[in-house]
Amino acid sequence: MHPKKTSLKLAVAALSALFSLIAVGSAKDPKPAATLPPASTQTGVTYAKDMKPIFEVSCVKCHQGDKPKARLKMDTLEGVLKGTKHGAIVIPGNSAKSMLVESVAYLGSDSESWMPPIHNKAGIKQLTPEQIGLIRAWIDQGAK
Ligand code: HEC
Repeated sequence: MHPKKTSLKLAVAALSALFSLIAVGSAKDPKPAATLPPASTQTGVTYAKDMKPIFEVSCVKCHQGDKPKARLKMDTLEGVLKGTKHGAIVIPGNSAKSMLVESVAYLGSDSESWMPPIHNKAGIKQLTPEQIGLIRAWIDQGAK
């Protein structure tokens, strides 16, 4: 093969490899959700039985102790119901309007309020639609 053609081919291959890397990089970023996952049909959902295990894995690292982020404590039911320094994040009986649900569903374009934060250093992942559905059921059933 002609040497010039070979180096051109190599350059094209290197460029396309670079572009696919860039494409993968941006695809990793979560996008704002247009809709909320539906509430779970599970009955008898409680903080102690169903929420605490989820919050312990995904939230309490930053939301407990003496200096919880946004002054929100998630390691007790009282803490979650009390909310942040700005007030309640749970409206018992109305999960769709509860800020807690909006933040975990990555609803709205303000990615600052998405929880857990994207690219957090602890590597904590976004909740699954099933987990969000269970949180919705808990709030809709009165957040007990
Ligand atoms: C890696 C740390 C970290 C984790 C994990 C984390 N948060 Fe947060 N959270 C923060 C920080 C930092 C803020 C404060 C943002 C601010 O004050 O602007 C915050 C603020 C919030 C707020 C208030 C948002 C606002 O806009 O005022 C809510 C609600 C919240 N977190 C819920 C959660 C829930 C629910 C989870 C688990 C699913 C969670 N967080 C997990 C760090 C974290």
